[in-house]
Amino acid sequence: TKIYIPRDSSALAVGAEKVAVAIAAEAKSRGLDVEIIRNGSRGLYWLETLVEVSTANGRVAYGPVKVNDVPSLFDADFINAKPHTLCLGLTEEIDWLKKQQRLTFARVGVINPVSLDDYIAHDGYQGLKNALKLSGADIVKAVTDSGLRGRGGAAFPTGIKWNTVLGCESEQKYVVCNADEGDSGTYSDRMIMEGDPFVLIEGMTIAGVAVGATQGYIYLRSEYPHALVTLNQAIEVANKAGYLGDNLLGSGKAFHLEVRRAAGAYVCGEETSLLESLEGKRGLVRFKPPLPAIEGLFGKPTVVNNVISLASVPIILDKGAQYYADYGMGRSRGTLPIQLAGNLKHNGLVELAFGATLRELLYDFGGGAASGKPIRAVQVGGPLGAYLPESQFDTPLDYEAFAKIWAVLGHGGIVAFDDTVDMSKMARYAFEFCAVESCGKCTPCRIGSTRGVEVIDKIRSGKDHAKNIQLVRDLSDTMLNGSLCALGGMTPYPVLSALNHFPQDFGLPAETQA
Ligand code: NAI
Ligand code: SF4
Repeated sequence: TKIYIPRDSSALAVGAEKVAVAIAAEAKSRGLDVEIIRNGSRGLYWLETLVEVSTANGRVAYGPVKVNDVPSLFDADFINAKPHTLCLGLTEEIDWLKKQQRLTFARVGVINPVSLDDYIAHDGYQGLKNALKLSGADIVKAVTDSGLRGRGGAAFPTGIKWNTVLGCESEQKYVVCNADEGDSGTYSDRMIMEGDPFVLIEGMTIAGVAVGATQGYIYLRSEYPHALVTLNQAIEVANKAGYLGDNLLGSGKAFHLEVRRAAGAYVCGEETSLLESLEGKRGLVRFKPPLPAIEGLFGKPTVVNNVISLASVPIILDKGAQYYADYGMGRSRGTLPIQLAGNLKHNGLVELAFGATLRELLYDFGGGAASGKPIRAVQVGGPLGAYLPESQFDTPLDYEAFAKIWAVLGHGGIVAFDDTVDMSKMARYAFEFCAVESCGKCTPCRIGSTRGVEVIDKIRSGKDHAKNIQLVRDLSDTMLNGSLCALGGMTPYPVLSALNHFPQDFGLPAETQA
């Protein structure tokens, strides 16, 4: 019998390793023949450690499994998929999973992440095989036609970015994957790298073939040690099998790939400071222009894309641009891997076509607040994203719909807060975060963030109240318009949305409008 036990950080954090050891030991002591496969996480975090048993009808899930449950699982004959209080039925039939549209995450939690055979058996490398038969311009056209936009947060059309790099003459070009996933409440990059690393490797290889880049780097968040191991294992396998290297699948085209560990600065997720850091320098933001697409790593034309953008490319080259573009709404095409976090009953990864509403995510998937209290605010798009009140929960997940309410989708992280939250504290935290993480290159961010903390403290203590409220607004205006990059430039989003939507938390009448 095949038994699947995740090796994803989320599962390891709640004891998956011990569960795996206990299951192996119990099977041995009972003389039972089991094969344990370490898969990625299905992304149903409240059910980790989620153990699955393969049957003729599909996999049967049990969870959340703790070490102490292991003897009783064997007593109940779970390896023959027999009932147990932790049995959840067929994994694919679990409503939470069944309601999703998993394109980018199709294999995550399903396959053994470092088995190339498993990857290929689940449609892996079809995209690269197709791409190798096309010209660079045709690959770029497919990505453009799919409507894919940058999933790191800025939502810039991926095909147009690639086209700029393709159009540059240079003896050397690069593909850089931004895997410095630093937003609060986000983990989709990590789940891909730990659960299906070949899809990222394939996406980067296709990008290289498309624009004529022969070297790729994955700039990996330093706090992701398991992703580092998994990526390096997968890269080694791909190299040995000819899916990376000097002669990709006999095509004569080359693509080499290496992982570089980041050092733990949030601002190094900004593409130009990332490039500085990759070059071995301090992570200071560069002025743009020149765009990295024209003068990027070591001054050469460089594609810089987020993990999810690159991991979405193989299915586009496999199934066609139209297949991907058929999902979504308006100018937001395809699917978005949404990450539910914070005060929710059911946190985890939900991949859906653009267009679902926040309310569906918070209640149908999230199950409401874990505390049982009403959800009062959600922050979407990381620590620099706006706070949304209940009156905005019907906003569809769509880049333009969010822009209309002065909010961002960012990297798809949603953090929920119940009615015990103090929004003036959250506004203070936004300034404080900016002060800690600022690279220091420009004044509005470097100095404004520290002054912001002080002014919020004065407002919270009631000192010169009206004057200080106005001061926060003026300061936010300066940071919005005067900062060199999104770190200082977006800090006003959480600050002003907190102030505008929750004025009573700042000692103002509830009906105050901006
Ligand atoms: P941006 O709007 O300046 O640029 C977007 C991308 O398009 C960049 O890669 C830029 O180089 C590229 N680009 C623009 N014009 C181009 C052209 N003609 N040809 C080729 N490439 C072109 O946005 P920026 O400053 O890179 O990112 C800001 C965003 O980052 C924010 O919207 C925020 O949501 C997101 N963000 C994400 C975080 C995360 O952890 N994933 C953390 C913080 C912010
Ligand atoms: Fe550096 Fe902040 Fe200016 Fe960005 S906004 S360049 S992080 S000082």
